[in-house]
Amino acid sequence: MKMKIDEELCTGHGRCAKYAPNVFRLDDDGYNADRGGEIEVPAGEEDNAIKGMKSCPEKAISLAGE
Ligand code: F3S
Repeated sequence: MKMKIDEELCTGHGRCAKYAPNVFRLDDDGYNADRGGEIEVPAGEEDNAIKGMKSCPEKAISLAGE
């Protein structure tokens, strides 16, 4: 499973990393460190990743195509 983080929509709420700390990383400014790119969700972290995705108030995270 891959997810992408929109560079413009992420405004640093940080909820993604709270719900899925093993999936999403924040940079020093509190933004998703992988914004503008895609990440591979580690095996077993899919449910957390989806919770993190849904928790983003800006809808900056979405499923990426296979
Ligand atoms: Fe950014 Fe949304 Fe996470 S705004 S830091 S992707 S909760």
